[in-house]
Amino acid sequence: MPKKITVALQNHSYDIYVGEGLLDQAGDIIAPLLSRPRTVIVTDDNIAGYQLPRLEKSLEKAGITFDSIILPAGEATKSFAQLENLLDRLLAFGLERQDRIIAFGGGVIGDLAGFAASIYQRGIGFIQIPTTLLAQVDSAVGGKCAINSPRGKNLIGSFHQPGLVLSDVSCLNSLPQRQLLAGYAEMVKYSLINDGKFFDWLDRQAGKIISGDPAARIQAIITCCQAKADMVARDEKETGPRALLNLGHTFGHALEAECGFSDRLLHGEAVAIGMVMAFDLSVRMGLCPEQEAATVRRHLKMIGLPDGISADLRAYFRNDITAERLFNHTLHDKKLSGGKVTYVLVRAIGEAFLTNDVTAEDIKQVFQSALDG
Ligand code: GLY
Repeated sequence: MPKKITVALQNHSYDIYVGEGLLDQAGDIIAPLLSRPRTVIVTDDNIAGYQLPRLEKSLEKAGITFDSIILPAGEATKSFAQLENLLDRLLAFGLERQDRIIAFGGGVIGDLAGFAASIYQRGIGFIQIPTTLLAQVDSAVGGKCAINSPRGKNLIGSFHQPGLVLSDVSCLNSLPQRQLLAGYAEMVKYSLINDGKFFDWLDRQAGKIISGDPAARIQAIITCCQAKADMVARDEKETGPRALLNLGHTFGHALEAECGFSDRLLHGEAVAIGMVMAFDLSVRMGLCPEQEAATVRRHLKMIGLPDGISADLRAYFRNDITAERLFNHTLHDKKLSGGKVTYVLVRAIGEAFLTNDVTAEDIKQVFQSALDG
């Protein structure tokens, strides 16, 4: 039996199912949510070879007709051009307003297909079937959908909640190790925000999660999804506490921007470094004991995630990046309010909080220390 969590929202609550082998039951689970047995699967060319046939077979078995739209894998697909292409194909397929589409892939597909669903004929429903760890624990839940602008990442988008999230941990078996670890960083994020016990559990179970133990993976994903569901239920449109989910993101975003949002630094890797920097800033401001930052570093290192700017990354930056330049990226963060960046700082592991009360000098010093290694 899959585990189920409900994201309780005023007008559009939905369930998240997590289990092993759910892809093969997807047709039966999805069928009751469709107004007629017809849908479109949006996926990418990485998924098409491995997992798409399983999903297609399951829809066929449930008597659902469908078209599969296979887009190029990679961040570049979150573009106006691919959005237009996708919308055109949905129109050509004759989808109606009561129909739902399926976003089947990682964060790129979930973001693009969700955004397309939010504007297709003024909005149709969609179902998330995330295939990466990062999408299963974070991006497929909560309704943030977006494409990128040449001026920045995720700048054009909407909040559009899925009607169902179906996470099959067997999809993670073919995920490259680096992608898996990047997703794991988001798991650590949930523990650092408000669940110190979960951090201790991760510290003991990390090996099993990374090596592929399905029960450990399911339990970890469920814990993260429950945390996110609670947060989204409290603050669907991020006017308040949902911003805690951005722990490590402002620092991480600056590093990603310097890498051109390329695979040179995966989002989860940037978040790992950013979380350490958030702890360092908190220590520097006298808010958090040094030992807590050291424990986070040790954990990230132990599982093979970066705990700072590596020598390789410094070499990639050709040593010509200054703290000032990294700081300037933070000023273009889309989380600005009244011209100020809201930072997620910590008092300890599991005790994060939001503040605008951070000086530019302190932030630059933290960037400088990270650049100095
Ligand atoms: N990834 C952060 C959020 O969904 O709010």
